Amino acid sequence: MTRSIDNQPHAHSASTQHIVILGAGAIGCYLGAWLHTTAAQVSLLGRPRVAERIRQHGLTASDLNQRKIKWSASEISFSTDPDVLKTADLIVVTVKSADSPEAAKLIAQHAKSSALVLSFQNGVGNAMVLQHDLPGMTVLSGMVPFNVATLPEGRLHCATEGQLCAEDHSALQAWLPLFNACGLPIQLHTNFEQIQWGKLILNLNNSVNALSDMPLKAQLSDRAYRQCLALLIEETIQILKWAGIQPAKISKAPPALLPFLMRAPNFIFRRLAAGMLKMDENARSSMWEDLQLQRKTEVDYINGAVINLAHSLAQTAPLNSRMVSLVKKAEAGEYRPKDGHQLLSDLLRPQTSQ
Ligand SMILES: NC(=O)c1ccc[n+]([C@@H]2O[C@H](COP(=O)([O-])OP(=O)(O)OC[C@H]3O[C@@H](n4cnc5c(N)ncnc54)[C@H](OP(=O)(O)O)[C@@H]3O)[C@@H](O)[C@H]2O)c1
Repeated sequence: MTRSIDNQPHAHSASTQHIVILGAGAIGCYLGAWLHTTAAQVSLLGRPRVAERIRQHGLTASDLNQRKIKWSASEISFSTDPDVLKTADLIVVTVKSADSPEAAKLIAQHAKSSALVLSFQNGVGNAMVLQHDLPGMTVLSGMVPFNVATLPEGRLHCATEGQLCAEDHSALQAWLPLFNACGLPIQLHTNFEQIQWGKLILNLNNSVNALSDMPLKAQLSDRAYRQCLALLIEETIQILKWAGIQPAKISKAPPALLPFLMRAPNFIFRRLAAGMLKMDENARSSMWEDLQLQRKTEVDYINGAVINLAHSLAQTAPLNSRMVSLVKKAEAGEYRPKDGHQLLSDLLRPQTSQ
């Protein structure tokens, strides 16, 4: 038995589809909590520490529009055993980018080849990594535009707005009604590379936010941090131009306008970017969370992707390279929050090598 959104129990039909969320963290648990309110059977595959947290508190997912769902501990199907993948019809991959090869290995070992694999990870190469190791399976790219914060007592709060996106593929059609039913509709796109780079451009703020040690809204309200972000975005857009990639517009402003918007004085920025600043006061980037928990960040898959693209064109990306070095230092234990001006001068400091 599962429970619907209004907490009324409903039985699974014989044809119930099984969704396994591989990587039960912030995004995985959030998506799982909402999907669980549909007719699908949902299982979370994750780590023992998350299982323990869920055993104590269950999961509560909420969003900016006051929607809220409680998934009680006794009803949650949480597994630390990848064998749960055996009966999956849809595998939603929500591990961090560095864990994609391991996720692919688990899927290859345990899942049936007819299962659809949908990556809801940041970065531009995760679906490719998964597909490479899962040659007989359909692997699709997805994109989560919103931010989910992990709060105490099993609470997951979606602190910004946006709609899920995925590659337009016939294999996904059958799943769309379920995502619609739980209020997480998926927009389909044919050129997903553009979507991924559009999102990556926004994710360039993750490292700025992580090093600021400030909530996103306060950090974005500080012009010096925005100037750092403007530099990173400008460099990325130039490299994308050389590569012939046109990043999609993911936020309210087109990518090419973002550097101008970011450099605007605070009072202009607040007016022009009111939509962008519509977020929970306490929202932070997951990269900030990784540094706090002394975990490796995804910087190699975000700023690092820009550097790799530049190198593939025999170019360099000095500002993104500098940012990767700063985050790596913080990962290595030299984490000292930087104010916007310090970060700006660190970014602009001449480099000896890349
Ligand atoms: N958080 C956000 O607001 C947000 C928004 C948009 C997109 N994203 C993207 O979504 C992806 C997931 O981010 P997240 O913030 O949800 O990460 P997260 O909270 O770290 O969740 C990932 C979870 O997967 C677990 N995991 C890793 N490998 C596993 C395996 N082989 N088997 C079972 N569990 C495994 C991790 O455990 P360990 O920590 O022990 O490895 C972690 O608990 C990332 O690509 C991120 O960039 C995040």
